[in-house]
Amino acid sequence: MNTLATTRADLSAPGPIQHYRSLDNDELSARIEAIRRRMGSRLLILGHHYQQDEVIAHSDLRGDSLQLSQQAAESRQCEAIVFCGVHFMAETADILANRPERLAQRQGKRIPVVLPDMAAGCSMADMADIDQVETCWEELAEVVDTEDITPVTYINSAASLKAFCGRHGGIVCTSSNAESILRWAFERSRRVLFFPDQHLGRNTARRMGVPLDEMPVWNPFEELGGNDEQTIRRSRVILWQGHCSVHQMFRPEHVDRLRQQVPDIRVLVHPECTMEVVDKADLVGSTGFILRQVQAAPPGTRWAIGTELHLVNRLKQEHPEQEIHFLSPIICMCATMYRIDLAHLCWSLEHLATGKPVNVIEVDTDVARDALVALERMLQLR
Ligand code: 13P
Ligand code: SF4
Repeated sequence: MNTLATTRADLSAPGPIQHYRSLDNDELSARIEAIRRRMGSRLLILGHHYQQDEVIAHSDLRGDSLQLSQQAAESRQCEAIVFCGVHFMAETADILANRPERLAQRQGKRIPVVLPDMAAGCSMADMADIDQVETCWEELAEVVDTEDITPVTYINSAASLKAFCGRHGGIVCTSSNAESILRWAFERSRRVLFFPDQHLGRNTARRMGVPLDEMPVWNPFEELGGNDEQTIRRSRVILWQGHCSVHQMFRPEHVDRLRQQVPDIRVLVHPECTMEVVDKADLVGSTGFILRQVQAAPPGTRWAIGTELHLVNRLKQEHPEQEIHFLSPIICMCATMYRIDLAHLCWSLEHLATGKPVNVIEVDTDVARDALVALERMLQLR
């Protein structure tokens, strides 16, 4: 018997997503809460900080990428995870929650990890694919010793890239541990290949003292990434030419404008912003770091925050004692995170509760095994 299913008398067969789109938020919320009550601790809903308020309201846990992957790794009671975030996060949760020792403890029973909308991807993660990374590695091998390169992938990447790192002595990082991960990598090798976010790689390595001229950018559409051999030989960090389309919208002139308009303003940005923005900021860190800075600040603190709009708006609501400005005059919003809405959440939960889960993210076994190596290296470092 499927233990996820609630009694059939309680729930009629869920309809298609179109039906849920026609329902109002009050009804969707009531139905989501009904499933949460029925399933209790067997269900874990994770919400990334960039999710909409109405989705966050139904999350058991909210956090940044690292916190959520740790929570997925530690989950012991739950029988299903619904990940309100983007595709790479659900993949990571699947790899960690269904790793071999956990499967053995549960007599082989998998925890389904559900992504309420399959279209919730990450444009940055899509900027590096495994074939491009394999080609890059082969081209590098013609110029330098790849034994002396540690591949580091930002957690915002496909499981196949994490698996590549697992196979080649590499590791995963998040925006909250990138510096300690790079330090770990430099203890093992002279060089790092960092993908897919050039800005996180550059901002972190520069803070550690790596000069810019030792950080060439690798363009996957050009031979040797668009570099000459001399540049690659001199390199310490090879930065994949990827970026976050949300964070790259913050500009240094936005910092100048707010500094002029608001006296004593503290500029707090995410490390996915460009180096020019990070250079002008007072504080730089992950979404979790941003949240902690605001929570710990005295009333009356003035902030300009450069990260996804939903998190900044929530901080404004939750901290009316502080003056919070969005760093950019234009809307910088993650359209794919925004795809998770109450309709998709309710639709996926009602399927789960009737024992017919939809949108289950299940990483291929071989890929998951290698990716786990790189993820565990990261998790053991903390
Ligand atoms: P963090 O939650 O690690 O700060 O990452 C932000 C992000 O862009 C997630 O996609
Ligand atoms: Fe990807 Fe940027 Fe959206 Fe994060 S904010 S999920 S990095 S596109």
